[in-house]
Amino acid sequence: MRFTNPKWNRNDLCWCGSGKKYKKCHEAFDEKINEFEMQGFEVPTRDLIKTPEDIAGIKRSAEINIAVLDEIAEKIHIGMSTEEIDQIVYNTTVKMGGIPAPLDYEGFPKSVCTSVNNVVCHGIPSKDEILKDGDIINVDVSTIRDGYFSDSSRMFCLGNVDPAWKKLVDVTKECVELGIKAVKPWEPLGNMGSVVHQHALDNGYTIVREIGGHGCGLEFHEEPWVGFTTKRGEEMLMVPGMCFTIEPMVNMGGHEIFEDAENGWTIYTKDGLPSAQWEVQVLVTEDGCEVITY
Ligand code: MF3
Ligand code: CO
Repeated sequence: MRFTNPKWNRNDLCWCGSGKKYKKCHEAFDEKINEFEMQGFEVPTRDLIKTPEDIAGIKRSAEINIAVLDEIAEKIHIGMSTEEIDQIVYNTTVKMGGIPAPLDYEGFPKSVCTSVNNVVCHGIPSKDEILKDGDIINVDVSTIRDGYFSDSSRMFCLGNVDPAWKKLVDVTKECVELGIKAVKPWEPLGNMGSVVHQHALDNGYTIVREIGGHGCGLEFHEEPWVGFTTKRGEEMLMVPGMCFTIEPMVNMGGHEIFEDAENGWTIYTKDGLPSAQWEVQVLVTEDGCEVITY
């Protein structure tokens, strides 16, 4: 539903669930969005603007997501299989009252994505994949709690990691931090994406073009798609109440990727060089954003 509704009674209760009359609550906000739309900006639909109740639910989901990643940070070690990471994610999530969102999501077979070295994303945990000295791994955790979704991922460096690989991991984290600072309400998403991209380019890296972040909260993957090779002035307007992920995949070599033909999930760098990714979920606020997961 778009924001303009001429039949909307201004004395009706507001759509956000505040209990206030529409004219005293979100009317001015909706009009502001309409103005941007008339200027030619892509604007969010109302279902992408989270109500206070939604935000509380997403934050409760995020409590589990953060706790699961903290647990992995404590337990991850050389010699363990990625299957063991999957078990920790499943057990911790369920114990806390959540459901791992990846499990059975469009046929994904496990509770978490584990992406090692040249795997860009969507690595499938396996008992045959043993973590070894010098590996870098992304553990991507997503949780459903009471119907609300949260999503974040971190990198872990195992043992003696090549300094050049460690730098890739660190710069990717900086990319996310700069992205967080670049979230400004009433500006287009491309302003954020271009800041993330520039930092990767400045360090001699590339960013994957085809896969990006996404709206998240009421569904696992909502609009908008969030690119990190996008340009200033482009893409959907960031509006207070929107919730989306910042999760660039930064490659040491070229940006080209390919998909595993056998499992249909796992994405690799074409040139075999390593790729790193960190992911946070943010809520757009009146003056920037709030980090919901990390
Ligand atoms: N967690 C991933 C993301 O950041 C989604 C993975 S889909 C899955 O969007 F099925 F592979 F889990
Ligand atoms: Co995500």
